[in-house]
Amino acid sequence: MKLAIPRERRAHERRVAATPDTVKRLKGLGIDVVVEAGAGAGVSIPDEAYAAAGATVAPDYASAVGDADMVLKVARPLAAGEGQDEAAALRRGAVLVAMLDPYRNRDQVADFAARGLTAFAMELVPRITRAQAMDVLSSQANLAGYKAVLDAASEFGRAFPMMMTAAGTIAPAKVMVMGAGVAGLQAIATARRLGAVVCATDVRLAAKEQVESLGGTFVMVDDEEARQAETSGGYAKEMSDAYKKKQAALIAETIRKQDIVICTAQIPGRAAPRLVSDEMIASMRPGSVIVDLAVETGGNCEGSVVGEVVVRHGVRVVGHANVPSRVAVDASQLYAKNLLSFVQLVVGKDGALKIDRDDEIVKGALLAIDGAVVHPNFLPPPPAAPAPGAAPTTL
Ligand code: NAI
Repeated sequence: MKLAIPRERRAHERRVAATPDTVKRLKGLGIDVVVEAGAGAGVSIPDEAYAAAGATVAPDYASAVGDADMVLKVARPLAAGEGQDEAAALRRGAVLVAMLDPYRNRDQVADFAARGLTAFAMELVPRITRAQAMDVLSSQANLAGYKAVLDAASEFGRAFPMMMTAAGTIAPAKVMVMGAGVAGLQAIATARRLGAVVCATDVRLAAKEQVESLGGTFVMVDDEEARQAETSGGYAKEMSDAYKKKQAALIAETIRKQDIVICTAQIPGRAAPRLVSDEMIASMRPGSVIVDLAVETGGNCEGSVVGEVVVRHGVRVVGHANVPSRVAVDASQLYAKNLLSFVQLVVGKDGALKIDRDDEIVKGALLAIDGAVVHPNFLPPPPAAPAPGAAPTTL
């Protein structure tokens, strides 16, 4: 089997889907690995390092992926309207494994099926114990949470820790974290390590203990709805309007006392919840900083802009795109390991493809195979029923 690692071409993408270490281990599975020249440039891995690990270095994209049985990528392929149609270079029947962002790109999912690709979305790997080593949401969100705090610190004109000096005392920074999932918990831990006083909020009651164990104060609307806010998969549900109103009042009261806000709240498959209004921003002291990690899915903070730092009411609102890629070396190393674990699941002992459609992990992540979309969340809508009284269709 031939497996290809192309160079990532999206703006803001510095990560790569394999490291020399994972190449060596893929070779150990009996797989031939081809790496496109320059694939590791964003993470300072030269082509020679891949070659030394046993990969063949291909000079360009088409020759890397053209006859590959499997293609491992970081981001979803560029589509026809994005300058280059990356999926077009893959052969029918090839297996594509990447963070395909399917909820926001349903047309592309259909396109993968039409082209006869077998497409796996790594974000959809179920979070069961057996799949922990393949959990890209955790490996990338963890680093994003860390980096968000460093980004806030670099935009903030003050220090984080309390400092008692002969020239006077500096008060510690006050940090609020919105959403205490993987990114939020790492943001809390990072801000605490820098010496900030931290509080956090979430709709899932289970987050309380985790926040407190990291030394943060938990702030939440604790009502009957909050007790039901967690899905069986551990994710948050979209909350009712009544809950949102109560939550907004609580956030408004807390946020005006904060110096830094780190927004990480997400609802899988939906737009991120809007938690910080323009009025709330205006209530903060000038010089405060808000980092919106949810900016690419609609944003937790009003007015945050993808890829920009905007100033609203004297508050710096940071909307960096693709934050895991801002820690590209570690993010790639962990992501490449996540992919290696996934490849081990779909490749047999002889190094040939062996996709078990009954496996829970395969079922969870498989979007398209044999020319059809197969994931229940992305099936094409059934044809509309004829309106009552409409004339019968003649064939
Ligand atoms: P996520 O990225 O989907 O969301 C981030 C956080 O935002 C979540 O904690 C969510 O509850 C919160 N949130 C959503 N709407 C909100 C609102 N309106 N207000 C405030 N907060 C809101 O979540 P992530 O980080 O992927 O974690 C989801 C769950 O998965 C957690 O329970 C986590 O512990 C669990 N998990 C399980 C793993 C496993 O068992 N292998 C691995 C990693 C995470």
